[in-house]
Amino acid sequence: MLNSFEQLNSNPLCIGLIGTGRISDIYLQNLSSFSEVNVKTCGSLNLEESADKAKQHDIANVATPDEIIADNSIDCVLNLTLPAVHAEVSLAALQAGKHVYSEKPLATNLDDSKRILDLASSKGLIVGNAPDTFLGGRWQTARKIIEDGVIGSVIGCMAHVGTHGVERHHPNPDFYYKHGGGPLLDLGPYYLTVMVFLMGPITRVSGMASRSFDKRQIENGARHGEWMDVEVNTHSLSMFEFASGAIGNMTMSFDIWDSETPRFEIYGTDGTICIPDLDPVHGANVFEGPVWYRTRKTSRWEFQPRPTDRPKEWLVAENTHNFNFNCRGLGLLEMAYAITEKRAPRASGELAHHVLEVMLGIESAPDKGGFVDIESRCDIPNILDERFPKGKK
Ligand SMILES: NC(=O)c1ccc[n+]([C@@H]2O[C@H](COP(=O)([O-])OP(=O)(O)OC[C@H]3O[C@@H](n4cnc5c(N)ncnc54)[C@H](O)[C@@H]3O)[C@@H](O)[C@H]2O)c1
Repeated sequence: MLNSFEQLNSNPLCIGLIGTGRISDIYLQNLSSFSEVNVKTCGSLNLEESADKAKQHDIANVATPDEIIADNSIDCVLNLTLPAVHAEVSLAALQAGKHVYSEKPLATNLDDSKRILDLASSKGLIVGNAPDTFLGGRWQTARKIIEDGVIGSVIGCMAHVGTHGVERHHPNPDFYYKHGGGPLLDLGPYYLTVMVFLMGPITRVSGMASRSFDKRQIENGARHGEWMDVEVNTHSLSMFEFASGAIGNMTMSFDIWDSETPRFEIYGTDGTICIPDLDPVHGANVFEGPVWYRTRKTSRWEFQPRPTDRPKEWLVAENTHNFNFNCRGLGLLEMAYAITEKRAPRASGELAHHVLEVMLGIESAPDKGGFVDIESRCDIPNILDERFPKGKK
């Protein structure tokens, strides 16, 4: 009997991409290098843009979103559209019998998010969701440090992103300031997903948020100088409690010019892990970069991974060293294995649903007496094992 790698190589997961905007390049670049998947068709609301991407990344076909959803040869829709339409596109794809892997967030409200999971489950289909950064070497290494007991029992964590938004680098930044956008729904998924991966599910949240600017100006590209209305809060503070008893806090802001606060820290009874904010690798929205840690026995930070002298006992983390680069799409590749092996993917819809409930709970906390209980739970994704993945075109 063929193993999953052999099965996928003889019959790669056939993918139809919907949404050929800014983030699609890195997906297409990475996916085209994996032999287990084949991006057959791409499309969007702008077929000229999609045709350019198809040419650039050697994709055989361009089609409208409806044609992609109706194409029976496509196994899985890769949904890289905007947050406000993620649910609509994912539900249509599932309805047509296709697996779905979507950019974050899974949806912008819990009803849609539940509808996606329920529809997938009733049809025996798989839903996977970004972010997949936690599959990168940096986070797998942090998890291994925790699993090995280096910092003792985890008691808490802190995440902090202070930026001045995206209008300096994204040519069409409107969606970041509309319903479904804002720093919490845009950046929160990276940090909260990593927290669940490292510390388990979250049971209770609180939060406050504000909006410092009602209008913001596009500062790059063809629309340079154009003003946008800001419809969401852009400075968000939150606190949460984990099922384990650990507690954490998080700042996600598009209103801060700069900060020297580390992007992420995990506190244990015997030590601390720090994810430093170093150029060119920033925070949890990347796969790669150093992990610092120190324990009660050491007075200075130690660094991992250090390719030259990583201890042998960290071999599992070492296997993920291949993913110390911008490897967006890795979650979809892992999902191709999950489909073949008839198991849940690591970057699963259930994990994304839990993270969405946490974010919406943080948003609604001020109107609900300060604290919101989180109903959903999800499995903690396993660390990547050495079998995965092997294929390189
Ligand atoms: N740009 C980034 O740096 C970045 C990074 C990580 C994740 N993301 C996420 O990726 C997603 C896309 O972001 P982007 O920056 O590529 O946006 P973009 O505006 O550059 O592209 C959006 C694409 O979606 C298509 N689209 C919009 N509505 C559609 C609909 N109803 N049906 C079909 N297609 C539709 C557009 O035609 C376009 O091709 C977002 O969820 C965003 O949060 C973006």
